[in-house]
Amino acid sequence: MLRMLLEERPAVVSFHFGLPAADRIGALRGAGVFLLATATNLSEARAIAAARIDGVVAQGFEAGGHRGCFDPAAPDDALRTMALTRLVVCGVTIPVIAAGGIMDGAGIAACLRLGAGAAQLGTAFVACDESGADAGYRSALFGEESRHTVMTTAISGRPARRIANHFTALGDSLDAGTVPSYPVAYDAGKALHLAAKETGETGFGAYWVGQGAPLARSMSAAALVAELRFEMAIA
Ligand SMILES: Cc1cc2nc3c(=O)[nH]c(=O)nc-3n(C[C@H](O)[C@H](O)[C@H](O)COP(=O)(O)O)c2cc1C
Repeated sequence: MLRMLLEERPAVVSFHFGLPAADRIGALRGAGVFLLATATNLSEARAIAAARIDGVVAQGFEAGGHRGCFDPAAPDDALRTMALTRLVVCGVTIPVIAAGGIMDGAGIAACLRLGAGAAQLGTAFVACDESGADAGYRSALFGEESRHTVMTTAISGRPARRIANHFTALGDSLDAGTVPSYPVAYDAGKALHLAAKETGETGFGAYWVGQGAPLARSMSAAALVAELRFEMAIA
């Protein structure tokens, strides 16, 4: 993958789940790639800054998808976006990108007021035309169930936030530590979802969303970005 990235030279590469070795960071920096990495607490943010990464994504506990903690076995303070953003803004000198539960221009404007240089939105784009989310995912996102998200390790062995459904209930019924590590459980979960979908049962999908999910909107990604800009301007 590193070789491919060095050939393609994308404008940005963003790391999740910790940092790669210094020589890999150096190679990407040398290729002119702007580097980001996710932090879920101040220690991780400081490690990111010390590794000469260009910017830090401060991912609050509200965020959809996988939690970018460096060590999933370490105690987790579950810092929310507002507190985490301030801690990181005050604790490092590199640019901070706030993430987690931000769904509209008012949310982005609030993060900028907290000192973030930018905001990163994931869930807000799940229902966009370009998204690969299937019909079950979209229906869950716009249904009552999107008000109930859970942080679970049942899918991949790593904590991740998603809509609660049959699969997460299955995960809750297991003892901690019995879920096989990535990617075994993840692949088995995808196979289970596909098999269930064929019978019309969509309750086993990995519907990753953050706590702001009920505010999701369906339109093209470009239209959503234009809307976000407008909302920021009037916030
Ligand atoms: C469907 C989905 C997939 C995601 N995939 C990734 C990923 O591959 N890599 C990554 O760094 N973050 C990923 N994230 C997390 C986002 O980068 C971001 O931290 C998060 O979406 C912010 O919270 P929000 O979903 O409440 O906006 C994903 C999030 C979602 C919702």
